[in-house]
Amino acid sequence: MKINNFSAGPSKIPQIVLDQIAKDIIDYQDLGYSVLELSHRSTIFEKILRQTKAKLIQILDIPENFEIIFLQGGATFQNTFIPANKPSLLDNISFLISGTWGKKTHEDFQKYYGKKIEKFDIPNGKHGMNQLISAVKRNQSEYIYLTSNETIEGIQIKNTQLFTEKKLIIDMSSDFCSYHFDWHNISFLYAGAQKNLGIPGVTVCIFDTDFGEENNLTSYLNIQNHIDKKSAFNTPPTFSIYVMLKMLNWIESNGGLKELESRNISKAKKIYSFLEDKESKLTLLAPKLWRSNANIVFDFKGKNLTELFLQESIENGFIGLNGHRSVGGVRVSNYNSVTEEMVSDFLLFLEKFISSN
Ligand SMILES: Cc1ncc(COP(=O)(O)O)c(C=O)c1O
Repeated sequence: MKINNFSAGPSKIPQIVLDQIAKDIIDYQDLGYSVLELSHRSTIFEKILRQTKAKLIQILDIPENFEIIFLQGGATFQNTFIPANKPSLLDNISFLISGTWGKKTHEDFQKYYGKKIEKFDIPNGKHGMNQLISAVKRNQSEYIYLTSNETIEGIQIKNTQLFTEKKLIIDMSSDFCSYHFDWHNISFLYAGAQKNLGIPGVTVCIFDTDFGEENNLTSYLNIQNHIDKKSAFNTPPTFSIYVMLKMLNWIESNGGLKELESRNISKAKKIYSFLEDKESKLTLLAPKLWRSNANIVFDFKGKNLTELFLQESIENGFIGLNGHRSVGGVRVSNYNSVTEEMVSDFLLFLEKFISSN
């Protein structure tokens, strides 16, 4: 049976990339040993690290005044890493909260600070985003924290130019490398790799060089150590970084971010317009203006239908469609690796399910 993986992450990896990885796991570049066995101090791995950085710079047009480091601990580690390295930020930041991940980061920043940090959130997750944006703009703080794509709720704020006068700290974990964006007002951006850049184990952090370390922090927590040692301060997640390089090469060979962005928009439009046509049977859960192109979240009006649909999906080879346990429903993740054909097959299957239930 053909498997169509719509998982929110770890997510689908293109077959051509899997084939390359499979070969390199057995024998990396005809060296006679596996990529899994590469020493992080070898010149071969140093080359992988250098190439990964260079590809990111090339694909994302990253300006020269930005540092790139690769860390472990997932996106969640950034909730500690960022405030620990730049505590002065905590007096000068507000949060725009559009979903679960932003809320968690806000809670952790407050815990670190020991005081309240101003936040703006979407009432009931449904209305008033424009008023909210104006309020954020009027706010005094120099920095704004936001999650560009809330993976659980399917809410996306991908226009960083909404806040040109603010310095942005962005969790871009679930839409990084799925569209082109401007860097001029970005101060610190991070993304776990397990959506568009491969597998868990590595988080890429890209930040303005003025985002320096302010405390004399212990080894792994100290950002300067990672900058000075070029992401090899201790043993880095070698295989995850290697997979990221393979994914970046795949992005490049598929026409780069502009091309992938246009494919992602076209696939998302197709799914949303299908779902809108069926609104007597199902509910789209995100506010229309902020609907994510990356995670499309809906639920059936009859609750027992959701369970039945998810069960039949798996039986028919459509996997990873269950909504996050906190919101339920169905979530279709439309990352770079999801093809037009997968989307068409899924919509056909959904159409059949709706007409027979
Ligand atoms: C937007 C976003 N931020 C943060 C996280 C947490 O990432 P991690 O599990 O790598 O810590 C996730 C996980 O899916 C996410 O989607």
